[in-house]
Amino acid sequence: MKVSQRISQIPMSGIRKMFDLAGPGSINLGLGEPDLDPPELAIAGMNAAALRGMNKYGPTAGIPELREAVAERFSRYGKITASNVMITPSGSSALLEIAQTFVDPGDEVLVPSPGFVIYGPHAQLCGGKSVEYRLTDGDFQPDIDDIQSKITPKTKMVVVTTPSNPTGGVLSEESKKALLDISEDKDVIILSDEVYDSFVYEGKHVSFMDRLDRAVVANGFSKMMAVTGWRMGFLCADESVMPDLIKMQYHVCASPNMPAQYGILDALPAIDPYLDKAKSIYKRRRDLITSRINSIPGMSLSPPKGAFYAFPSYDADVPSAELAGDLAKNGLICTPGSAFGKYGEGHLRFSYAASEEKISKGMDILSEVMGRLR
Ligand SMILES: Cc1ncc(COP(=O)(O)O)c(C=O)c1O
Repeated sequence: MKVSQRISQIPMSGIRKMFDLAGPGSINLGLGEPDLDPPELAIAGMNAAALRGMNKYGPTAGIPELREAVAERFSRYGKITASNVMITPSGSSALLEIAQTFVDPGDEVLVPSPGFVIYGPHAQLCGGKSVEYRLTDGDFQPDIDDIQSKITPKTKMVVVTTPSNPTGGVLSEESKKALLDISEDKDVIILSDEVYDSFVYEGKHVSFMDRLDRAVVANGFSKMMAVTGWRMGFLCADESVMPDLIKMQYHVCASPNMPAQYGILDALPAIDPYLDKAKSIYKRRRDLITSRINSIPGMSLSPPKGAFYAFPSYDADVPSAELAGDLAKNGLICTPGSAFGKYGEGHLRFSYAASEEKISKGMDILSEVMGRLR
């Protein structure tokens, strides 16, 4: 059987490759998955919903109560109502549905580099083309000059991630303004991926939810509530495009998971104490990994401001895939910077959604392997 050119031209994500090289008992700092428990209210709410018979198809855009609850919580970033919100079966699906709704064959989509691995493939699955734009060194802001130079009449969308996977960078107000100026001048849509908005350790989250005239925002509950296996996300968009997004979702999945929506609904209004605790745990781990990395000769890292990733640069003449492979063979799984695009080379990504003990052991291995390299 011959599969489509669209799918055969897309390589498998580089994130999982390192797992094949690592032996049993390796320290895994390769996966962007919280190791915390989900809020108890969420689990109880999901179980109760299943037990009381909420096991049928639901409304395509999600249950109205959850759309309301999302609008209420996220109005902290901009005035949104339930009609700006669609619940989706994961943040990933939200991103694909947005691409499928806006990108035509031949369109170009500007994606951050280093950046999360699915934006480019999504553009290609729509028959479009992805073009990498670079992030600035150190604070990982979108390089506005690079974006300007890569915009063509075919550019349809510019993707931005804040806080960022893989860099941990948090968008500044100035960068947001510059992106909105480009969006207005060139008539391009901003796709803002904000799935880590709950995890900002310095400063504040800068959202595009107050500019749904120019932006569509993807978000989700995987990271927020440590429920990566539930596949629950949402998107926010202007009311004028919502019927098309809902039509797209109907053809993708008819409706999102019903019991899981009730679980999220029960936990969301009271989520702040849970998030405060999660944030203080991640911040401690961030401080630990930052000081350990900066004590290794030849490695350098500005403290990441958000998400749960460290993306240090290293000073050695070896490609990141080779270095990550060497680390995996020595018992530490991480991700080569090159897996996140051409401007990710010269870096490694470590997830610090892992215990302090694992982080310390992992940094011992990193220090030993780097010591041998130099
Ligand atoms: C930046 C970013 N966006 C979206 C996602 C997708 O998350 P999910 O599909 O679990 O909601 C991830 C997952 O790692 C991510 O890092």
